[in-house]
Formats: sequence, structure tokens, C-alpha cells
Amino acid sequence: MTQPTRILVIFGTRPEAIKLFPVIHALKADPRFECVVCVSAQHRQMLDQVLDIARIVPDHDLDVMQPDQTLDALTASLLTGIGKVMDQVKPDRVIVQGDTATAMSGALAAYYRKVPVDHVEAGLRSNNIYHPWPEEVNRKIIGAMARLHFAPTETSATALAKENVDPARVHVTGNTVIDALHWVSARIEAQPHLAAGLADLEARFAGKRIIGVTSHRRENFGEGMEQIATAIRRIAERPDTAVIFPVHLNPNVRRVMNERLSGLDNVALIEPLDYPHFARLLNIAEIMLTDSGGVQEEAPALGKPVLVMRETTERPEGVEAGTAKLVGTSAETIVTEISTLLDDTVAYEAMARAHNPFGDGQSARRIVELLANEIGQEA
Ligand code: UD1
Ligand code: UDP
Repeated sequence: MTQPTRILVIFGTRPEAIKLFPVIHALKADPRFECVVCVSAQHRQMLDQVLDIARIVPDHDLDVMQPDQTLDALTASLLTGIGKVMDQVKPDRVIVQGDTATAMSGALAAYYRKVPVDHVEAGLRSNNIYHPWPEEVNRKIIGAMARLHFAPTETSATALAKENVDPARVHVTGNTVIDALHWVSARIEAQPHLAAGLADLEARFAGKRIIGVTSHRRENFGEGMEQIATAIRRIAERPDTAVIFPVHLNPNVRRVMNERLSGLDNVALIEPLDYPHFARLLNIAEIMLTDSGGVQEEAPALGKPVLVMRETTERPEGVEAGTAKLVGTSAETIVTEISTLLDDTVAYEAMARAHNPFGDGQSARRIVELLANEIGQEA
């Protein structure tokens, strides 16, 4: 039997961990591959929450997170740290996901060593380099170097074609976030205690209509975050409504939200939830209000209307399907849009239909088969 292909999977933040654990599970179960995991720990606590539930023990942990880290310092330590791991591991191929600083630095370190890099969640484009910032440029840089581009949808494959990427190297696989959501939902069904930690809040807000909120985008820091906080204060004045807001650990988010929203009866500012508990929040919420990428993909899969606090999105599929709506960050607009969904049943029902434009839960399996074809190994 030929030697297994050594694949180094590199990631560092919560969403990358969520979207890569299905791929890691599939690679580890396949004798054609030797899967080595390197985490940068660009996020520490929020990454570890996912590693724990997915039972992934990294082979290499760079532990690069610093409080309030700057993009320059982060990128510099990522590039040198990942480079050293690559020199030690000597991978045949490298996998990165999405558009974070870790993904971009991992791809660059691989390119500097002429190791092929394969890109999970390729081809997302907003066509605005400052929205989202710096992710739009990060993913374009990765796209310029990638060997295989695993596009989640036809839309993302088309975006790559417009950039003259060789179509033979682009594969539409669906988004692995749906695999992750199916996996965690099955775990919760088998072991309900994994998501039972919201019970007290659910009792406190019994009879109220729950709005789930997340927010962390850099381009929303400052005025955007202030506007979001103002909108939440106004929404929470309604006696029939409650807001559950797991607050991202980024200090630029926490400062504003703690200052503006602490102590309100109808608002629960809570610590970031682990993935099973966040899945529970997605299920009990009537509406999601978010600037997250991943939540824009998960909410449509569960038929939850999602109002996206951004000017543009690289995930138009949810908007086209009618489950997502771009609302920007003006407090006025956010309050109007939430009120419409709460007060107009027809408007709510029009959005609350389950759609899976982002995949069928089989993306990781497809990715592993495509990798096996690429290296010429049959199952
Ligand atoms: C990063 C990604 C962004 C992704 C987001 C997901 C970049 C440039 N940004 O943004 O694309 O959408 O993750 O959440 O790669 N912190 C903690 N503990 C944690 C995580 C963060 O304390 O577990 C705090 C630290 O003070 C850290 C700060 O948050 O310095 C910012 O983290 P960073 O990874 O730089 O950026 P994010 O805004 O999280
Ligand atoms: N998420 C989580 N706990 C939380 C908030 C979000 O597990 O308290 C998950 C969510 O289900 C989604 C991912 O984190 O899969 C989104 O991460 P984030 O919004 O930080 O980043 P983005 O997707 O915008 O890059």
C-alpha cells in the first residue's frame, strides 16, 4: 500500500474550527490520509470550546492570541509560527478555510514552500475590499495560490470563474457548516444535556419572543457597534420581546455592549456559547440579528429569518432564498425591520422557510473524495 498523503490542516478561530471539524473527522477516518492538525489559536477560549466538543486534539498549537491583538502583529506571528510547523511536519498538502488572518498566513507559508494549498469555502466575494475587512482581501490572496478551490455554492464557483481560475480546479461541495450543524444536532438529540445550559434563561424569558444576536465585524467597530446597541435597547423596550446576546470576546465589542446594555430586564448579555448551546439558541430564537458569516448560513438551514447588520454580503444565497435580509447598522433601520417581523405575520412567514442553499451536510465527504482523486488514490 502506498504511503498515506500527509495533510496539514491549519486554523485558528471559532468559525474555522466549526467548518473544518467535519473535514478533519473525515480525513482521520480515511487510511489514504494522515491528518495533522495545527491551530494558531488566533482565538483561545472560543477555539477551545469547539475543539472540546468535536474532540480534536491539535498536534501543534501556536497559542498566538494576545489581548486586543493588532492585525500586523497577529499576521507576523502567524506567518513565522506556521512556517516553523511546516518545516517540521513537511506536509504533502495544506488545507485552510475561509478568510481569516490564520487562513491567509497558512496559505502564504505553504506557497513559500511550494506545498499545494487547498481552500475550503472558496470564492466568496463581496467585491468591496473594506466590507468585510480584511476578509475580502484575505480570501482573494488565498484564491491566488490555491490548488483546489472547494466552492460552497454555484455562486462562489462563478465568482472564481470571473477571476479566471481554472474551472478544473474549482468544485462545488456545499458548505461544511451544514455538516457541522447536522453533527451537533445529532449529538444534542442523543445527549440533550449538551445544550441544557440555557434552561434558566429560557424560564426567565418564557412567553417572550426571543431575538438572538451576535456581532463582531471589525468594520462595525465604533459607530456601528453604538448603533447596534441603541437598536437592541429600543427593541428590548417591548414587553413581549427578549434578546439573548452571547457577546464575542473581542474587547471592541464587549466594551460597548457591556456599557450600553448591562442590567436591562429583557436583555441577556452572556458569554460566547459553545456550539451545542448556540445551536439551541438558533432553535429557540424567532429572529436572528447578526453580522456573522456563519450565522447567515445556519439560520436559513433552520428556517429562521436572519437580519444581517452589514452593507454587503458575500453570501447572497440566503438573501435570494428570502431567509436573510441586509439591514446595515443604522439603529432606525434595525428597529423598523425587527418590528415588521414581530408585528406582520405575513412578512415573518415569507422569511421563515427552511432553505439549504449552503449545502446538504455531505460537503466534508465530497472534499475528501476530491482530494483523493487529486492525489490519484482510489478508495
Ligand atoms: C476573527 C477573524 C474574522 C472572523 C472572526 C470570527 C481575522 C482578521 N479576523 O476576528 O474573520 O470572522 O475571527 O469570530 O482573522 N478574543 C479573546 N478570546 C477568544 C477570541 C478573541 O479574548 O477566544 C479577543 C482577544 O482580545 C483578541 C480579539 O478578541 O485580540 C480579537 O481577535 P481576532 O482574532 O484578532 O479578531 P476577531 O475580531 O475575533
Ligand atoms: N457561534 C457559537 N457560539 C456563539 C456564537 C456563534 O458557537 O456564541 C458559532 C455559530 O454557530 C457559527 C460561528 O460561531 O457557526 C460563527 O462565528 P463568528 O460569527 O464568530 O464568525 P464568522 O462566521 O462571522 O466568521
